[in-house]
Amino acid sequence: KKVVLAYSGGLDTSIILKWLTEEYDCEVVAYSADLGQGEELDHIPAKAKKTGASSCHIVDLKEEFARDFVFPMFRANAIYEGRYFLGTSIARPLIAKAQMEIAAKEGADAVSHGATGKGNDQVRFEIAYYHYDPAIKVIAPWREWDLKSRTALEEYARKHDIPIPTSKKFPWSSDRNLLHISFEGDILENPWAEAPEEMYQLTVRPEDAPDQAEYVEVEFEKGDAVAVNGERLSPANLLAKLNQLGGKHGIGRVDLLENRYVGMKSRGVYETPGGTILEEAHRAVESICMDREVMHLRDSLVPRYADMIYNGYWFAPERIALQALIDQTQQSVNGKARIKLYKGHARVVGRDSASDSLFNVDFATFEADDVYNQADAEGFIKLNALRLRIAAIQRQNRK
Ligand code: ARG
Ligand code: SIN
Repeated sequence: KKVVLAYSGGLDTSIILKWLTEEYDCEVVAYSADLGQGEELDHIPAKAKKTGASSCHIVDLKEEFARDFVFPMFRANAIYEGRYFLGTSIARPLIAKAQMEIAAKEGADAVSHGATGKGNDQVRFEIAYYHYDPAIKVIAPWREWDLKSRTALEEYARKHDIPIPTSKKFPWSSDRNLLHISFEGDILENPWAEAPEEMYQLTVRPEDAPDQAEYVEVEFEKGDAVAVNGERLSPANLLAKLNQLGGKHGIGRVDLLENRYVGMKSRGVYETPGGTILEEAHRAVESICMDREVMHLRDSLVPRYADMIYNGYWFAPERIALQALIDQTQQSVNGKARIKLYKGHARVVGRDSASDSLFNVDFATFEADDVYNQADAEGFIKLNALRLRIAAIQRQNRK
């Protein structure tokens, strides 16, 4: 028997690795994905083998993540519950996809992950696994073992000679990639308590951001960002560039209490510096290029699209169908936006499209024009008010 484990090199997945070899008496293939979490992955294979893995795969997914997952999601301006940019949610399907590719290559019969039985991640991973192989065996140790506490885990680690990081740097749980970093647990389990400043990794405190505002220009083609300040960049490099600019100005911190798919509410703190700028710029270019009814239709569907991603249905037919509509709406989204970064805020101050602008100053101007006949508006309003006028007549007759 052979199992492919999504392995980070941390304490939890090291314990899982050892536990799998013991409990299932199977060969464990370790796998780590680089999604831009900003950690060196070079030391991971040695560590995995020392803990009992038969081999270890390191996969660089940064460009695929940005191009095929983050960017399609940003074409929709998808935000969960009005606040969360879905940075963890959108990464899980890709991690699972690459894991299943390794499972196929290795001829493995099972896959395993380190998500708990209480969260969203287990759902996202496993729905994606089953999409690739309807008969795959899934092992979720957190739902099986009796290592219920931190102390039990550390005891297990000591017993099996797994190095425990002497002082775990931070007590809260976090998940980082090119789009964001998330924090949950520990002090955040008190929803009234403000997150401590040392939690934040990607952004400076807005109060400490430069006193001088900075402008950034983001250019889009068919709804995807292609250049920053005139420099064309690959999707992953573009995200990294916006993260750096946003981080410097304290942009993209969010503190929220969200509804998990399994049913409980959970407190989360997020930093999404580049994504926050990207969304502001994308909306701005849409505002000048996109037809009103197309935009309103698309916007009406986005809360459902965001739910699909949050709940783990990236590979489901309803998400793919909606994506086709969203992508169609982006054909005309070609242009650029000028964003002002200042002390925690990214605000659009200008937008332009050479090829697709629907903004026509001849019609909109407050000055004299000769294309629009103001007298036409009288009948337009009267007929639109017809229902209300008939109802008013009815009210008068009743008296
Ligand atoms: N609550 C967020 C989500 O469901 C973040 C989850 C973070 N996951 C983690 N393993 N730390 O997308
Ligand atoms: C976990 O429970 O493993 C992390 C949080 C989540 O998946 O929502």
